[in-house]
Amino acid sequence: MLNPCGPRVSSLYVHVPFCAQKCAYCAFYSEASSGDLINRYVAALGREMEQVARDLQPQTVFFGGGTPSLLNLRQWEEIFCALERSKLLGAEEFTVECNPATVSLDKARLLRAHGVNRISMGVQSLDEALLDRLGRVHTRAMVFKSFDTLRQAGFENVNLDLMFAIPGQTMAAWRQTLAEALALGSEHLSCYEVIYEEDTPLFTQLQAGEFAVDEDSACAMYEELVACACAAGLRQYEVANFARDSRGAKGVLASWSNANRDDHHFTTPPLHPSIPLLACQHNINYWRGGSFHGLGPSATSYVRGVRTKNWSNTQLYCEQLEQGKRPVESREELPLLARAGETAAFGLRMVSGWPFGEFKRMTGHDLREEWAADMDSLVQRGWAARSPERFRLTSEGLRFADAAAELFLR
Ligand SMILES: C[S@@+](CC[C@H](N)C(=O)[O-])C[C@H]1O[C@@H](n2cnc3c(N)ncnc32)[C@H](O)[C@@H]1O
Ligand code: SF4
Repeated sequence: MLNPCGPRVSSLYVHVPFCAQKCAYCAFYSEASSGDLINRYVAALGREMEQVARDLQPQTVFFGGGTPSLLNLRQWEEIFCALERSKLLGAEEFTVECNPATVSLDKARLLRAHGVNRISMGVQSLDEALLDRLGRVHTRAMVFKSFDTLRQAGFENVNLDLMFAIPGQTMAAWRQTLAEALALGSEHLSCYEVIYEEDTPLFTQLQAGEFAVDEDSACAMYEELVACACAAGLRQYEVANFARDSRGAKGVLASWSNANRDDHHFTTPPLHPSIPLLACQHNINYWRGGSFHGLGPSATSYVRGVRTKNWSNTQLYCEQLEQGKRPVESREELPLLARAGETAAFGLRMVSGWPFGEFKRMTGHDLREEWAADMDSLVQRGWAARSPERFRLTSEGLRFADAAAELFLR
């Protein structure tokens, strides 16, 4: 998988598998844990960085979770030392996910001082009763306070995550949360409809008939989201993602798009004008089928068509690295057509869709040949639009992007 002779991979994800407490809906691999295990994880992560460093020249770094902001100052300092040792600092975009309950001014300043320039904060709702319903560890007041703290520490690129169609959420409550979140003026907004993941308390409650899913209300909330976000000056560039344009970010994007050539077959395309300047570059690389290394328990990597997955067990992950082994549980090499199908499906989540020429350059396959019938059927349903240059989902199609994308898998 490592390729020391070719261009290096420009995207790095690090999974931090710890949370203060587990939310009722969440199936990401994470657990409430002791300080000892976190220390052991930090040391093991440094070893994993060394294993992949020679294949990496990160233009985007994303620490997700879990709750990366749960780590204390000393643990973060150790992580930055490890990143420096492995020459992984200096990315154009460096994001850290935060929970509002674990943001302090000292920590925010430390992150900013070491090159973190984007924060993604999980808010979910600004309604106390719904925060409680979701099992969130923070109050609405902590969201406002943490946002101020991030600004005070110098963060000029902040994303807020919200969720909608939460059981018990009324349209009025959703409008209120949206209005208050938008009033904060973050540069980026991600809004997810609740997914009922197996093995979560919310899924069990649904199965037990404690509430019902209301699809019409979820559709109405999505429409409200798109209208309000756009009215507040954010531009939608993906099913769930909205961002602002900002002059200050121009240089960042120009250098990123030139540098992000990590693979002979799957180079990342230049940004489309419909992509806002403060869009998340790290996620755009996922949606465009670019390569990335993923470190940490449960993390997935996708490098030159090979997908690997790390053990979803922090103890085992640490043991493997302490013994000098790779912490990889599985490896899968996708045939070229399957790879192109996945790339097509992911890319359709973006408002700009796929320019035919770009898709062919990246995957070696032509959407107009292999997927002609699938594109026709989506256009007939009103879910997609086709021009001589590109294929993209309409706003109605974006609402059903998962179903539309499935047609492209091979
Ligand atoms: C991995 S979490 C990271 C944020 C941080 N851990 C927090 O929750 O404060 C990323 C985001 O995924 C979304 N998410 C997680 N589980 C979800 C689910 N079952 N349905 C919809 N969105 C979900 C939430 O909006 C969450 O903020
Ligand atoms: S949503 Fe965030 S804080 Fe809640 S359990 Fe998942 S990763 Fe942890």
